[in-house]
Amino acid sequence: MCGIIGYVGHKQALEIVVAGLRRMEYRGYDSAGLAVIADGGLEVRKKAGKLSNLEQLLGEDPLPSSTTGIGHTRWATHGGPTDRNAHPHVSSDDRIAVIHNGIIENFHTLRTELEAAGVQLESETDTEVVAHLMAHTLPEVGNSLPLAMQAVCSRLQGAFTLVVVDRNQPDVVVGARRNSPLVVGLGTDGNFLASDVSAFVAHTRHALELGQDQIVVMKADSVVVTDFDGNVVEAKPFDIDWDASAAEKGGYELFMLKEISEQPKAVADSLLGRIDENFRITLDELSIDPAVLQHINKVIVIACGTAAHAGMVAKYAIEHWTHLPVDVEVASEFRYRDPIVGPDSLVIAISQSGETMDTLMGLRYAKSQGARTLAICNTVGSTIPRESDAVIYTYAGPEIAVASTKAFLTQITATFLVGLFLAQVRGTMFEDEIRGILADLDDMPRHVDLVLDTAEPIRELARSLASARSVLFLGRHVGYPVALEGALKLKELAYMHAEGFPAGELKHGPIALIEEGIPVIVIVPSPKGRAVLHDKIVSNIQEVRARGAQVIAIAEEGDESIIPFADHIIRIPAVPTLMQPLVAVVPLQIFACEMATGKGHDVDQPRNLAKSVTVE
Ligand code: AGP
Repeated sequence: MCGIIGYVGHKQALEIVVAGLRRMEYRGYDSAGLAVIADGGLEVRKKAGKLSNLEQLLGEDPLPSSTTGIGHTRWATHGGPTDRNAHPHVSSDDRIAVIHNGIIENFHTLRTELEAAGVQLESETDTEVVAHLMAHTLPEVGNSLPLAMQAVCSRLQGAFTLVVVDRNQPDVVVGARRNSPLVVGLGTDGNFLASDVSAFVAHTRHALELGQDQIVVMKADSVVVTDFDGNVVEAKPFDIDWDASAAEKGGYELFMLKEISEQPKAVADSLLGRIDENFRITLDELSIDPAVLQHINKVIVIACGTAAHAGMVAKYAIEHWTHLPVDVEVASEFRYRDPIVGPDSLVIAISQSGETMDTLMGLRYAKSQGARTLAICNTVGSTIPRESDAVIYTYAGPEIAVASTKAFLTQITATFLVGLFLAQVRGTMFEDEIRGILADLDDMPRHVDLVLDTAEPIRELARSLASARSVLFLGRHVGYPVALEGALKLKELAYMHAEGFPAGELKHGPIALIEEGIPVIVIVPSPKGRAVLHDKIVSNIQEVRARGAQVIAIAEEGDESIIPFADHIIRIPAVPTLMQPLVAVVPLQIFACEMATGKGHDVDQPRNLAKSVTVE
């Protein structure tokens, strides 16, 4: 959950590092810091709070010119967000600077050992032990940074991405990774190490994936990758399929507003090339033998947060199309149960970042049980797709706002394609049925666009409810995950109590929450889908209104029967039942964004959060 960047080359390191940190600030913003090597010494500047605090410090206390530097934005794990705990951390002899993403689980033991050896540690962090261990180890290995990194990594337990510089070796930056992201950028005027490609995409779109337990030795004109034993390994090159402007706000005030508005294109791009001219699915990249897919007897979706909500929507669709049982598991629970998973299971790991530790660990557990694994991911070259048997990338483009929006729609889209592909290879649907659904799916970007064009009523509603202390969300069938997602958005952005329920569950306890004036947002199923679902949710609306709730119905155009029962109706296009989440969630995203804006919150970087949760 931290942002890391390293640079060595022929350009000024400072501006490259600061610009890279700016692009990665969404990964963590409790503090920021950097180190450069200049005139045989280490120059370190670091500051609690947002990157702007560091930039102010740099203005007051400028750095000397340097072509080698590292930088870090922090999401605090060990030790509060203070100047002292900010990275980089430096060895006692001021020789080594280190930045770190992850958690070193045995740092107490290492800290005790260092203190017993007389080392004075300055911070409360786990990271600092690495700086001291590196400094102690270097003389023992002939001052070889790679060998010192190998030796130190062999002593660390947990998840770590480390990037280190040595003032005595200004032409090299060394990195290492275990269970935490690190990617190499191959430039013409130098090379880059970063947590994700957004840090250097403005300089190069050529990158190298790094695998588990690997060390990278980076110089201005060379990059060597080895395993933790020093054996050279071939790192897989890839090209970034978007340019730096995609990671900019593009005239929007907020990344979140930009990304909400990009949803029609994100869905369209995620369908591109996957439906042929006869409306048959062509998932060429799904490198799992169709014969294997014909024999699986269970699908398990593992994911977290918004991605888990997308998985819940997928469950309804995949079960309906394939008659396969689909379990949707919150990844952090999955591997600590005794899940029934094995060679006949298809485990689908949904992750926007591809680095969520809970999901990655669940994936590894599933693989250890022999399951086939498929990643649905928005970040090319990230760990989860790399460790899966196959991957279906979503093409939402970079999602910078911490609260996920366009990723959700594209995750649903991709899981629908997988479900229809399963139905196609298993013959559980007629080809004309599949073609009809694909035609509907192909039409969804237009419907999402329509919702965006008619969003003012939901913005006005958010402003009118600014003083609400709590908002409840109700849904049935695929509307239930949408209710959960709407509640999550409001929690994340407006810091409000919000809760999503399956509407049928209300009378089993939660209805006690209903009091005069409490806003209840209800995702109303299409009356043309399963009329019974519509009728029952109307009953639920009456139950809460009878107790004083203020009901906001998210209901499709033409559904007149809802009018007598709702205080406000937000209209969405009439679409096929299973596809309603793609349009119903958009007003809820806008509602949460507007509510948070009205409260003066930092919508793109909400408090306590980070974009990619790379610790368990
Ligand atoms: C969504 O708004 C949150 N930021 C969070 O729940 C997120 O969806 C979750 O952490 C999973 O992230 P991933 O998709 O990158 O794995």
